[in-house]
Amino acid sequence: MAYFQWKPTLSTHIKALDEEHREMLDLAGRLQVEIDRGKSAREVSELFPELIAREKQHFAREEQLMIQQRFPGYAEHKRAHDDLAARLADLYDRLRDDEPIGSMALLTFMQDWLVKHIQSHDKELGDYLISRAEQGVRA
Ligand SMILES: [Fe+2]
Ligand SMILES: [Fe+2]
Repeated sequence: MAYFQWKPTLSTHIKALDEEHREMLDLAGRLQVEIDRGKSAREVSELFPELIAREKQHFAREEQLMIQQRFPGYAEHKRAHDDLAARLADLYDRLRDDEPIGSMALLTFMQDWLVKHIQSHDKELGDYLISRAEQGVRA
């Protein structure tokens, strides 16, 4: 079962953000394939540097947008990013140490990290940006 497929209900209506979300979901999908193939924790961890690099770039892009557009939920959204980044880094450390992490625990984390965050925080940001654009407010 594919847990990480992009679908229109995940759209933030901001093209650049949607594209990056889709790329990160693809990576999470590759992670799931590795897990399903019974790869070791250390082997699974090899996907993490790319995942972490994309995450950093993506969070920075969203945070810059929020500041530029004076998004009122910035502090809370930034806190969510910081928390997710810390959890991803911690997971990477544990996998690198070859600590067996249950595949369900890993997939649940990826769901929280990507899907739930997009559905809540990112969609809220998208709605805000769209409403500002409709009001003709420019950065
Ligand atoms: Fe995002
Ligand atoms: Fe976000």
